[in-house]
Amino acid sequence: MTTPREQIEQLRNELNAHNYSYYVLNAPTISDFEFDAKLRQLQKLEADYPDYFDPNSPSQRVGSDLNEAFVQVAHSYPMLSLANTYSAGEVTEFYERVRKALNDDFEVVCELKYDGTSISLTYENGSLVRAVTRGDGVQGDDVTSNVRTIQTIPLRLQGDYPSKFEIRGEILMPWDVFESLNREREAQEEPLFANPRNAASGTLKLQNSAEVARRKLDAYLYYLLGDKLPMDTHYDNLKKAAEWGFKVSPAMKKCTSLDEVLAYIDYWDKERKNLPVATDGMVLKVNNLLQQKNLGYTAKSPRWAIAYKFQAEKACTRLNSVSYQVGRTGAITPVANLDPVQLSGTVVKRASLHNADIIAGLDLHIGDMVFVEKGGEIIPKITAVDTDARVLIGDKVQFIKTCPECGSTLVRDDGEAAHYCPNEDGCSPQIKGKIEHFVSRKAMNIDGLGTETIALLYEKGLLRNVADIYDLKVPDLARLERLGTKSAHNIKEAIDVSKQVPFTRVLFALGIRYVGETVAKKLASAFHSIEALQAATVEELIAVDEIGERIAQSVKAYFEKPEHQELIARLKEAGLTFEMAETNLPLSDTLSGLSIVISGTFLHHSRDEYKLLIEQHGGKNVGSVSAKTDYILAGDNMGPAKLEKAQKLGVKIINEDDFLHLISHSKNQ
Ligand code: IVH
Repeated sequence: MTTPREQIEQLRNELNAHNYSYYVLNAPTISDFEFDAKLRQLQKLEADYPDYFDPNSPSQRVGSDLNEAFVQVAHSYPMLSLANTYSAGEVTEFYERVRKALNDDFEVVCELKYDGTSISLTYENGSLVRAVTRGDGVQGDDVTSNVRTIQTIPLRLQGDYPSKFEIRGEILMPWDVFESLNREREAQEEPLFANPRNAASGTLKLQNSAEVARRKLDAYLYYLLGDKLPMDTHYDNLKKAAEWGFKVSPAMKKCTSLDEVLAYIDYWDKERKNLPVATDGMVLKVNNLLQQKNLGYTAKSPRWAIAYKFQAEKACTRLNSVSYQVGRTGAITPVANLDPVQLSGTVVKRASLHNADIIAGLDLHIGDMVFVEKGGEIIPKITAVDTDARVLIGDKVQFIKTCPECGSTLVRDDGEAAHYCPNEDGCSPQIKGKIEHFVSRKAMNIDGLGTETIALLYEKGLLRNVADIYDLKVPDLARLERLGTKSAHNIKEAIDVSKQVPFTRVLFALGIRYVGETVAKKLASAFHSIEALQAATVEELIAVDEIGERIAQSVKAYFEKPEHQELIARLKEAGLTFEMAETNLPLSDTLSGLSIVISGTFLHHSRDEYKLLIEQHGGKNVGSVSAKTDYILAGDNMGPAKLEKAQKLGVKIINEDDFLHLISHSKNQ
């Protein structure tokens, strides 16, 4: 008979092998359903036998909500950079230098230069023990718990690996993940990532590994280090690493002549545009490790390798005009309107000009021929003006002085790059933007009130600020174009449900400048209620962890405005939550004596919030379904095994809305 420990080991090995086939080889060996069933079996055993916990178990790939600060770790071998080259001539010089120094035959391995963030992984006895960022090259941040969530990084190796070694590579955010993340951030009015590199390194530094897991990073490994490496060439060592389970670039090629190297560079300069991840060049490495050793290092980089950087794609076109957009916070973004031009496979008509300093630095004039570059960025940028092409000089581009929407005089605070329209409560894009932010998923999560509906309600004079939302009546909504009575009822219902949104999210929803999700959490847990926060002095605000002068001043200024005081009074009157939930204060005994399992993903509250709600209403939240379970609170994507078990045992399934309905009618306050 197999012991639980053996069963756990067996399942972990099986799941690791399936993960490798799926993520690294792109060749699944099992259906998703069977995989999930095995994973659940493992999770159950691990829950029953916590002594066998292993951070490298495939069950740990989902990450955790716990905050973890990063510890600085010294690299056992410094993480060097490579000398950059930009032309065939410089590559030839490198090749000749190596030939002279070695005075023997040699091979050069050509690889893609991945444009992400570098990582150093340490494995001991086949297990990942540490993942450290480059940092300053000598020491970096220990980001192991985040790296464990990256599916293409093996947690346990297979085959004949050395007992201890390091492997280095690049962590990347694939283009499609990057684009959808930015779309999500745009909808939330969060700052966009300029390119997948910034997105990958930002993600790796997140404090919440569950969020890292959601962002689906990828990794390519390209450099094996250790005292006892299995093979004596770089190429063969990487082939070995691939056998142990690492994702190694299939684009790696051994070349024996300079012509071959140059032809390969040429090939990838075009072909790389079809890759799912960003690359910014090629890396050339002398293959033989002994020859590498003989060539040695300069103070900064190896003499046995160089990087060749691809030219960023450029186009030249005419600047027709500059327009100015007003965001939710009043920040003004200048945008260049261009003659349409083809660039990296898309037609570019607009380019961001960022701020007044950038415009002044370029000495832009209307009608100028300008160079646009895309590089790894999503929004093309203007990098220079072709002054030789100026025949007739147009008007100099002068940053506007007044708001294009409401005419208010713009302001620019000390040390800020952006100009702002100060008319927060009277400038239409700011008003509509604030309402859109207020109803967004991470704020009050009022489904159905989209951009168009908000614009219509605004035009009809029914919405002037966020408090008006709670005065909306079903007939007001039903009268709007394209909105039927059913949708109107649904919106009204979502508005009512939002009154239970916890204080931290309400605070975030108000849209106070610089108060994002994290700052809102810090402020809510420090002050507990809106009254305490309103009464706080700048000094008291600064005393809170991570709150600086800039945020403190902004919070203070927000609450000092009589319009905002009135707004908050109205929202309070409407019944929104303006204090932290008293976790140990029971709200009712509606669920008294009931055991409830939570399963799936939810729209209105997080799982933790539901757990709290169950307890506050006298119920008990339990982890797995059994004959003693009374209800399953089921969201979307409830696990099929749970569903089957529930049906077999006759456990009642209740959805999110019914659950909220049940408890909302039972408050005994
Ligand atoms: S080898 C000592 N190979 O480029 C040599 N680096 O400027 C170690 N990179 O920090 C690096 N793709 O982040 C190597 N195929 C590749 C690479 C690569 C991208 C990055 C890496 C490194 C930087 C060098």
